[in-house]
Amino acid sequence: MTSTIRSQQEVGMSTRSLTEAPPLEQAPRPAEAVRPAVQVDGVSQLFQRGGPPVLQGVDLTVAPGEFVCLLGASGCGKSTLLNLIAGLVQPTAGHIEVTARRPALMFQEPALLPWLTAAGNVELALRARGVGRGERRQEALRLLHLVNLDGHGGKRVHELSGGMRQRVALARALAQDSSVLLMDEPFAALDAITRDVLHQELTRVWGEQGLSIVFVTHNVREAVQLGQRVVLMGSRPGRIVREWQIDISHPRTIESPAVGALAAEITSELHQEISRHGH
Ligand SMILES: Nc1ncnc2c1ncn2[C@@H]1O[C@H](COP(=O)(O)OP(=O)(O)OP(=O)(O)O)[C@@H](O)[C@H]1O
Ligand SMILES: [Mg+2]
Repeated sequence: MTSTIRSQQEVGMSTRSLTEAPPLEQAPRPAEAVRPAVQVDGVSQLFQRGGPPVLQGVDLTVAPGEFVCLLGASGCGKSTLLNLIAGLVQPTAGHIEVTARRPALMFQEPALLPWLTAAGNVELALRARGVGRGERRQEALRLLHLVNLDGHGGKRVHELSGGMRQRVALARALAQDSSVLLMDEPFAALDAITRDVLHQELTRVWGEQGLSIVFVTHNVREAVQLGQRVVLMGSRPGRIVREWQIDISHPRTIESPAVGALAAEITSELHQEISRHGH
């Protein structure tokens, strides 16, 4: 990434002040002047010199507060794109700008530290952010409350269900206090009921915190239920082939006819995309 964001990261400055609500005395800026939360411009990614590109010419803009779901066949490059946005990997070509100093990440596995309690895992992220010792416990409990884990802060990881662990992982991601949250199939390993509960919680937290979210999933209904926009990626090379604006009103449920109808349309497009590439 060659953006100014990166260079500001290097000197440890936050860019959030550049993008978030202006001071009250300032006139609001016109919509087109608001910087996107994530801007991916002409990004290509090669892992092996001379090998096939994993991503080619990817453009993606995520507005502040927008919830975007990324769908695509296995191996098409969704995680690669997310890792590039996270700054974990540098693109071979193109530019990526992220307004958050350090986007929060959440993966399929909660990856909690087993020797710490639920609150301890969240506190660790707060500590990394520089929150003082005195405030950490209270802030961790507030975040656990946000993900409906009141009363579970003192439990160790093995005492928590899979869904509770993912909620701790969500609280830990929120502890980074980043305006951008990147999620890679965070609920894929959960049963349908737990996933439903977490969908509702994520939608609530997203609304309350005004987060910009990029959410990778294989589950088309999940994408339609959660996203304001669904972006479909094609394979070999990974690129964006189509997107849908989701105007279905909230609260949405995974069983609702509107969600089902749009999910069917997107699934059919996904199948065509998969058969075009022979996997
Ligand atoms: N660090 C790496 N080095 C080499 N190749 C990689 C690396 N990371 C990913 N790839 C390759 O890039 C391609 C895309 O992988 P990626 O993990 O982004 O796919 P994905 O869309 O997330 O798939 P899935 O849905 O199965 O998680 C794959 O062919 C993978 O082998
Ligand atoms: Mg992946």
